[in-house]
Amino acid sequence: MSKYLITGGNKIHGTLSIKGAKNSILPLMAASLLNENINIIHNVPLIADVYTMIDILKSIGCKIDLNDHVLVIDSSNLSSNEIDEGYVKKMRSSIIVLGAMISRLEHVKIYEPGGCAIGKRPIDLHLNSLRQLGVKIEEGSIIDCTRKKIIGNDIILDSPSVGATENIILAAVKAEGITRIYNAAKEPEIEDLQDYVNKMGAKISGAGSDFIEIQGVDKLDKVEHTVIPDRIAIGTYMIASAITGGCLEVDKIIRPHMEPINKTLIKAGCEIEYTKEGLIITSPKKIQAINFLKTDIHPNFPTDMQAQMMSLMTLSEGDNVFYETIFENRFMHCSELNKMGANTETLSSHLCRVSGVDKLYGAKTTSPDLRGGAALVLAALAAEGESEISDIYHVERGYENIEGILNSLGANIKKI
Ligand code: UD1
Repeated sequence: MSKYLITGGNKIHGTLSIKGAKNSILPLMAASLLNENINIIHNVPLIADVYTMIDILKSIGCKIDLNDHVLVIDSSNLSSNEIDEGYVKKMRSSIIVLGAMISRLEHVKIYEPGGCAIGKRPIDLHLNSLRQLGVKIEEGSIIDCTRKKIIGNDIILDSPSVGATENIILAAVKAEGITRIYNAAKEPEIEDLQDYVNKMGAKISGAGSDFIEIQGVDKLDKVEHTVIPDRIAIGTYMIASAITGGCLEVDKIIRPHMEPINKTLIKAGCEIEYTKEGLIITSPKKIQAINFLKTDIHPNFPTDMQAQMMSLMTLSEGDNVFYETIFENRFMHCSELNKMGANTETLSSHLCRVSGVDKLYGAKTTSPDLRGGAALVLAALAAEGESEISDIYHVERGYENIEGILNSLGANIKKI
């Protein structure tokens, strides 16, 4: 299995261009099942999760072409109503095809997603919401869904799950009547999904707020769309620059999407200047402690940036406490960071203390998960000497050519 060899100490400096968001493209690809037509998506990130979703859509009969970050999905004819167990075990977010498939077909079979490293991550909110739209669901190792009609309903989510909100939207787009989602997830990727499906002719409003209304329509048309920039990938590269004392220009961002991350970077002493379409981050002379960081739903600090921010704080002047409220096992990177000389202590499944140290040192580490692996790359960029990071398939699920991009910005990384 591939590894990264990183010699730390080089500043990450220059101009960065980032493709579309992983957490947008996956639901957009699922939504492409709805219109029984051609879907053209621009700015597609070439990451492992996108290739897995391509395999899933092909396995049920879609015709797919991916060329130069443009994805064309022809969903005119479906040949299967079942998603293979291997895909769902490989990528938990494959569950997102369920809403669109049950909109399209009267009988759908999908497997229970496997346990996930960062937490239990049940799908009860997805399934109970679909039940409220008239879908009969039998749960075993296989989830067997049947329906006559999908009928709009008022759905109150116990917690604002991103995936459940997306699955409800997808199932309700062609339902009979109106569906209202209360306590919906407000993440920017939900707005992108609304924009995409509305371009097909759907009638969805409210995405980005906690109340979403979907008026069912009979027919959807072909669509062409550009995926929003990946706020998490951008934030990760901003930290790469901040942790190495560099200065980085990002050519394209959506400012409100970046603000929860930027506020914390400013607290850490970074300067951020907005340009016409992007931003410039200048790193501090000495990284300041942020003292307390709580992850929470948008527009608060995203859980998907917690590990990377922790890497930055390992070199801060002072003490920090990280409070992870979304997932219950998202500190697996801490023990790996400690191998590099960091001073972190996991206090509970939701709390971790990080005291800044003067230096990190190259070490052999293992990526525990996608963002935890990215955090190790960041620490290695700042560390003295060479680091080896194994299990980088996690990182490749969500970052396109991270080694090539970082090398073009001054890093010294080899993938072996
Ligand atoms: C999405 C993102 C992921 C991000 C997360 C939180 C994608 C592909 N992934 O994941 O990167 O970290 O949002 O911003 O968009 N929960 C339940 N029951 C459910 C569903 C969720 O209890 O039916 C719990 C989960 O275990 C978790 C919390 O709700 O503790 C948040 O999960 P959710 O918002 O659903 O995250 P995902 O959609 O899986």
